[in-house]
Amino acid sequence: MNAPVNRQLRLARRPEGRVSLDDFVREEAPPPAAEEGAVVARTLFLSVDPTNRVWMKDVPQYMPPVAIGEVMRAGGLAEVVDSRLDGFAPGDLVFGMTGWQDYALLRPGGPLGLARIPAVSGLAPEKFLGVCGPNGVTAYAGMIDVAEIGEGDVAIVTAAAGSVGSAAGQIAKLKGARVVGIAGGPDKARALVDHYGFDAGVDYRAPDFRDQLKAATPDGADVLFENVGGAVMEAAIGRMNPRGRIALSGMISIYNGAGGTRYDWAPIMAKRLRVQGFNLIDCGEIWPRAARELASWVLEGKIRAEETIVDGLESAPEALNMLFDGANVGKLLVRL
Ligand SMILES: NC(=O)c1ccc[n+]([C@@H]2O[C@H](COP(=O)([O-])OP(=O)(O)OC[C@H]3O[C@@H](n4cnc5c(N)ncnc54)[C@H](OP(=O)(O)O)[C@@H]3O)[C@@H](O)[C@H]2O)c1
Repeated sequence: MNAPVNRQLRLARRPEGRVSLDDFVREEAPPPAAEEGAVVARTLFLSVDPTNRVWMKDVPQYMPPVAIGEVMRAGGLAEVVDSRLDGFAPGDLVFGMTGWQDYALLRPGGPLGLARIPAVSGLAPEKFLGVCGPNGVTAYAGMIDVAEIGEGDVAIVTAAAGSVGSAAGQIAKLKGARVVGIAGGPDKARALVDHYGFDAGVDYRAPDFRDQLKAATPDGADVLFENVGGAVMEAAIGRMNPRGRIALSGMISIYNGAGGTRYDWAPIMAKRLRVQGFNLIDCGEIWPRAARELASWVLEGKIRAEETIVDGLESAPEALNMLFDGANVGKLLVRL
């Protein structure tokens, strides 16, 4: 039998705009050796996340940027092949920061460290990279803990047809809110209502986007779950009611650029809005409870979640671009 090879994509230079395979060096190495307190795991699926693009940039952020020459950082679903960690054995499925490579040495620590993927009958393990994992937990934390969504609220969700957004909107519905989603193109806007059960879907690419949004929020909005930034966010803030709450989850519209942006704070002041940025790395405590609840909602058919799967390690850079083109439906994964 051939010895296993660890294919890796290492960051060769900081991409400008779209990412290409040429921004990475392809290397082959033996799999890492097991170490005390860690497992060696073989990557099955890579989670493709907008934040991957930010990690490639040398700008202030919530984690250190990926260094030039380092394996590209990414979350992944992996199978343990060797373990020197109590409670983990070969064959176990785990979540961890596998990176863009076939084999990773993973150890516990922090919410993104190493976690067992529970075997739940009826749920594919890759759901724990999306709706029952980081994306769903982000939606849960932002909508429930940060925005404090409640019965009778009107919520706007941006990037609403994506992984985080579709979960955030459905969670708000479960909590008794009226939910308006914003997404790109008429098909996605329609799917928000027909497939995900939102009350209205608005296409931000339509020339009459602002009129559509106004018509969909005749009584304004109390909560904004913000994933996009830029003009879409400003339009949504324009519909907020006094003392509304904004859960600032992400700003994908600026990730491909050099960074930085300027906004008009006057409406936030005039309407006395509460704006709170939040990040999954602070959600370690609620993660197990949120993941359990999300899994039961999915199993009961109360929440729908889709995946877009792309094959092959070398597809990872182009897959990342798909998030910025809106070419994904739901959670975007690369299968190795
Ligand atoms: N705070 C946290 O801890 C945390 C954790 C995970 C994710 N997030 C954030 O959540 C957001 C969504 O992430 P995700 O993983 O669920 O990705 P996703 O929503 O599944 O995919 C990204 C979507 O963003 C939309 N988009 C891309 N560029 C856009 C632009 N310029 N203007 C408007 N929409 C644009 C596209 O949808 P359309 O076709 O509708 O344009 C695309 O499908 C991101 O901002 C991400 O950073 C935050």
